[in-house]
Order: sequence, then structure tokens, then C-alpha cells
Amino acid sequence: MQLTLKIWRQENADSKGKIVSYEISDVSPDMSFLEMMDVLNEELMIKGIDPVAFDHDCREGICGSCSMFINGEAHGPDRYVTTCQLHMRKFKDGDTIYVEPFRAKTFPVIKDLVVDRTAFDRIQHAGGFISVNTSGNTQDANSIPIEKANADKAFDAATCIGCGACVATCKNSSAMLFVSAKVSQFALLPQGEVEATDRVINMVKQMDEEGFGNCTNTGACQVECPKGISLDNIARMNRELVKAQFKK
Ligand code: SF4
Ligand code: FES
Repeated sequence: MQLTLKIWRQENADSKGKIVSYEISDVSPDMSFLEMMDVLNEELMIKGIDPVAFDHDCREGICGSCSMFINGEAHGPDRYVTTCQLHMRKFKDGDTIYVEPFRAKTFPVIKDLVVDRTAFDRIQHAGGFISVNTSGNTQDANSIPIEKANADKAFDAATCIGCGACVATCKNSSAMLFVSAKVSQFALLPQGEVEATDRVINMVKQMDEEGFGNCTNTGACQVECPKGISLDNIARMNRELVKAQFKK
């Protein structure tokens, strides 16, 4: 395949970025999107041009770092896949592909396609954990009975990889889908009950302080989420928040 890539280039957080056009040939349909970007970067380096900076780690849809806007969609045109799992067979020979960073005020661009998503880390630090006594008397988690339906919902929520596609897709740059997944994965389990009140209050407070927008039930986040995180989690988080505010 021969492709034209229109890629956002930005030297650093303070400089002004722009779209730069690159031609690439001999792209195999079996390559992943990131492998195609690797080939482009090798060609750029041979020519003495600064390679395109992009985040990646696991390259198997787990770490959530490979965040790109491809032809106007977070993680590109395929559904339930991350950019590293997107294959070039989803494009046609001769296509022009636009590649941009995830855009949100809360995700400032560091360089090219790399954005700062530490706002998510700070939300996690505010309450996305459970405190367990690991002194040697810890109860085996498998011996705690949990209703199957709740176990399934908690597992689904826990599949959120913190990629930020929901924020980048939302017209309000809302982080509600992410935060609600992180709240839900504990709210549905007995292990999460102990700190449930503080967790939801603190995580929502941190989310607001970071400057993420509000949810207006558009649902675009759910459509673009590579893990299919459901809007039901947002409803659950809102219920948890009301409950917690009454208890405080
Ligand atoms: S909810 Fe989905 S889109 Fe948002 S951070 Fe989690 S995995 Fe990514
Ligand atoms: S590189 Fe880890 S999810 Fe894509």
C-alpha cells in the first residue's frame, strides 16, 4: 500500500504545532498502525529528520498508552481496539490518513502525538485503590462470595485501560467514563465497600479540580472506548456520589 500521512508535529509543549505531510510506500496490510509508524520513523531518521514522537508500551491493547486520533477518531476507525491493535488492512491503497494527538485542555501536548495524561494518575491517587492488611492474615479473595452478576460488572469496569479516548472524544472533554469505571470496579465488590464513601467523593473532586468537563449524556465516549466501557458505570458513579454525600 502507498499512503499519505498528515501528522501533527509539535516540537514541545510551548511551540505551535502544524500538520506535516509524509508519503510512505510498501505498507503491508498486516502491519499494525504502530508498525507502520515505526517504518515511517526509520525512513525519517535515515533522512536526518526528527522521528514522530508517540506513546506506546505493551502493543497488545493493555497499557493504554498508544493514544492517537486517526482520521478524526480516537484509536482510528475500528471498534474495540487500541491504536496498537489497529491493522493497516482497515485502510485502502492511496488513502490519506490524518494522525493527531488526543486533544483536551487536561491532556496538554508534550511533543508531536504524546500528551500528558498524568491528570488520570492524580484521580487514581485520590481514591482508585483499596487498603488491605497484608500482614499475613489476609483473607483469600476467592473465599469471599460475590454475586456472579456483580463480579461480571466489576470485571468489565476493571478492563478500562486509562487510555483517555473517552476524554478526547467527548465534546466536553469529560472524564466521567474513566472515573466511573474506576469507581465501579470497587463499588460492586465487598473489598471496595470500606472506602466507598471517601473514594467516590475524592475521585470526583479531583476530576473537577483537574478541569475535565461535565457529562451531557452524548454517549460518544462509550462508542470510541476500546474496551466497551458502558455508560451504566456513569449512572452507578452518580448514585454512589449521592449516597456518599448523604453519609458525609
Ligand atoms: S473508559 Fe475506555 S476510553 Fe476511557 S480511559 Fe477507560 S478504556 Fe480508555
Ligand atoms: S501500546 Fe499498550 S495499549 Fe497500545
